[in-house]
Amino acid sequence: MKRTSVAPANIAFIKYWGKRDEALRIPTNNSFSMNLSGAYTTTTVDFSDEFKVDEVSIIDGEFSEAETWKVIAHLDRVRDAAKISDRARVETKNSFPKGTGIASSASGFAALTVAAASAAGLKLSEKELSILARLGSGSACRSIPDGFVEWVAGSTNENSFAYSVYPHEYWDLRDIVAVVSEGAKSVTSTGGMQDVRTSPLWEQRLSEIPARIEQMKRAFKEKNFTMLGELIEADCLSMHAVMQSQAPPLQYWTDATKRLMDTVRDMRASGIPAYFTIDAGPNVHVICEAASEEKVIQSMSAISDVRSIIVNKPAPGAHLISEHLF
Ligand code: PMV
Repeated sequence: MKRTSVAPANIAFIKYWGKRDEALRIPTNNSFSMNLSGAYTTTTVDFSDEFKVDEVSIIDGEFSEAETWKVIAHLDRVRDAAKISDRARVETKNSFPKGTGIASSASGFAALTVAAASAAGLKLSEKELSILARLGSGSACRSIPDGFVEWVAGSTNENSFAYSVYPHEYWDLRDIVAVVSEGAKSVTSTGGMQDVRTSPLWEQRLSEIPARIEQMKRAFKEKNFTMLGELIEADCLSMHAVMQSQAPPLQYWTDATKRLMDTVRDMRASGIPAYFTIDAGPNVHVICEAASEEKVIQSMSAISDVRSIIVNKPAPGAHLISEHLF
């Protein structure tokens, strides 16, 4: 059966950095994210007994051997669950160019999970899809539910999953991404996270997260943007302090990243309510409300380090569509 799905990337407002279980990708803390409308993956999966081997390809790009094996390992999880042995043809396409530093693993594994599970004839709940996506790539579990999402860390395969805290229509926020580097990142998040316990700041960070998530839920309930933005920036700086104090230290910021962080602070000083967050790479995500979108884009376009800008609204989670890629 042939099935196609679309899944958004997501940006974490409260970050996950550190795993309790590497193989099962169970994190050490809960995290909270928003699905992104402008950065998504479309994937078609077809299982057939006529295929001799799994064939995996990406439109407008190339998979490395390691990436191909990760996809095949995920197909095996789906085959095991569905008790089938058919090989698959998989084709995938990103809305954003590969190598912009916009993580494609979350949208990629969420899209693959939804298309492959359905193509294999599995009828999984949202929670089960989130668990399966997590096994492919941790943050992919957050791209399954709608809108604003919490990933409950849990402690076993069955209780580590994401759910929608609010639907995407709830709050008209923006994540305006300033793409500053088109080079592939030096240390992957999976690799970098393995040394998290060497940071003397890590336990402190872990102890602060439950309260930060509670406060974030209050900011959402009250739609208090200042409170939300301050929490987003505080958590980003806390995660990067851990990264930078690990052994060996991880420095994902470039000079351009730091200039953009200053630009966001300047925006606030001039009355534009905007806050930054940064993942395991140099690009800067600027979070604001819809009313500030134009002003934020204007300020960011004036910075010469910015190669392109991706405007994201809150988006629904991964879902099937009827048009196929092949
Ligand atoms: O899903 P992974 O294993 O690629 O890790 C993502 C880690 C961060 O992007 C740095 C933080 C997060 O919660 O998204």
